[in-house]
Amino acid sequence: MNEKSASDAAGILSGLERVAVLTGAGISAESGVPTFRGADGLWRQYRAETLATPEAFESDPKLVWEWYDWRRGLIAPVEPNPGHRILAGWQDLFAGFSLITQNVDGLHAKSGSREVIELHGNIWKLRCVREGTVSEVRTTPLPRIPPVCSSCGALLRPHVVWFGEALDPAVLERAFDLSSSCQAMLVVGTSSVVHPAASLPRTAARAGAAVIEINPEPTPLTPDADIFLAGKAGQVLPALDRLLRERRCP
Ligand code: OAD
Repeated sequence: MNEKSASDAAGILSGLERVAVLTGAGISAESGVPTFRGADGLWRQYRAETLATPEAFESDPKLVWEWYDWRRGLIAPVEPNPGHRILAGWQDLFAGFSLITQNVDGLHAKSGSREVIELHGNIWKLRCVREGTVSEVRTTPLPRIPPVCSSCGALLRPHVVWFGEALDPAVLERAFDLSSSCQAMLVVGTSSVVHPAASLPRTAARAGAAVIEINPEPTPLTPDADIFLAGKAGQVLPALDRLLRERRCP
């Protein structure tokens, strides 16, 4: 990480009230959750179309559930890392702090973040395909695959957004509102290629916010970011937090 850039980022953030953060799979990488597109990414090993689409679920719900049950089993013992914990601390550092994530792993909540806007749903929640009711089920492995609704007997599906599906309009509207009203947006650990999430930093920038990106690799957003902090979230965020707190409470 470039010290000067980190200090510049802390300088920008220290004077602000409304800060939004957008996270992606990279923030959970240091906790041991595989990302989607890296060398060991989930989409390298599995074809998204065979597993994360409504059509796949319709044709083979058992296969889709086996994959989700496996992922739930991977994530269940995982603990938040320093990156998650710093962001949880920031909800009390800024008067208006919002956390928007593309992750479905629930690690932000586990680290103490209270109001997390989950753009792509949550892997611990199951939804009845007939009634639309959502319930949280933490048991892993699931006792029965595919699981069925206890009230109507229809299939339950993961409460996550699949390829070809629209995001929840209310969640999306809130995310865009927060992006267009924040004074700075931090973009942490996302490849910035999946829309509409990837449009949020651009919305923030158009509305005048500073965009600060944290990622070990450049992304399509990097040329347009005001500051790019190259490095891992679990290292860069604690460093940024230290600089920020020194400025706030010298
Ligand atoms: P990706 O797997 O596409 O990208 C992960 C990003 O994290 C990459 O840019 C990595 O360079 C970066 N990264 C890796 N390790 C990191 C670390 N320790 N600290 C910080 N960054 C790190 O994941 P997303 O951008 O989150 O959607 O993917 C977006 C969406 O694509 C996902 O939410 C998922 C997927 O299809 C759905 O399932 C709907």
